[in-house]
Amino acid sequence: MTKVISDIKKFKIQRKSNLFKDKSVGLVPTMGALHEGHLALINKSLIENDITVVSIFVNQTQFNNKEDFKKYPNTFKEDLHKLKKLKVDFVFYPTYEEMYPDNYNYKVIENNFSKILCGKYRPGHFDGVLTVVLKLLNIVKASKAYFGEKDYQQLKLIEGMTKAFFIDTEIIPVPTVRSAEGLALSSRNLRLSDKDKIKAVEFPRILSSGLPIKKIKLLLKQKGFIVEYVEQIDNRLFAAVYLGKVRLIDNVKV
Ligand code: PAF
Repeated sequence: MTKVISDIKKFKIQRKSNLFKDKSVGLVPTMGALHEGHLALINKSLIENDITVVSIFVNQTQFNNKEDFKKYPNTFKEDLHKLKKLKVDFVFYPTYEEMYPDNYNYKVIENNFSKILCGKYRPGHFDGVLTVVLKLLNIVKASKAYFGEKDYQQLKLIEGMTKAFFIDTEIIPVPTVRSAEGLALSSRNLRLSDKDKIKAVEFPRILSSGLPIKKIKLLLKQKGFIVEYVEQIDNRLFAAVYLGKVRLIDNVKV
């Protein structure tokens, strides 16, 4: 049976109980609005661990834009239904007050890779991500935690943080799940208009075209995207664009 716990103290009591004794624990941190991409992370955790914990917490501190936070989809009832169907063991569903008793007085700051790509355009975003992930890792004390490659910069920063702070949880990357047309699944896709949903599939298509970055940017603009950045780092091309007010990110190997 899936247990929903909102209280950190209660979760910690369970965590120390016999239920968890000698068991491997998988953690899948999410902000809800669960889609097939999340389900891939969860299924991997269910296969690889005795106990799976899925956290649902729309982490206010990682939103540099208030409107984006307010409009972030909240589909808890549907999410819980999906998690019960998958037989996830625990859903950790805390409030802001539970997670930030210090009101975000303490935070994790990375000074290098978090300042480029998305970090350049979303100041403070990765401070919020790293801080909440550190909190979740400390609460759940998982053997493994699962993160999607769609948020590749986030994944690398979390890997770096766990090394820097000697965290025992192993970080497991999971390949991006895409729609049949190639669009990387994201909770934000829910906010795209029907017209923009059709347009959006041009984003991964152009990004993986193998064309020079200048040409990629031009084609994206011609298709109606507002281009935030397209940048290559090592053998990976990273991009963020807007369709209306909806921000889409993606990355592909080159
Ligand atoms: O990728 C996300 O959904 C979030 O950034 C995460 C890792 C759950 C932290 O809030």
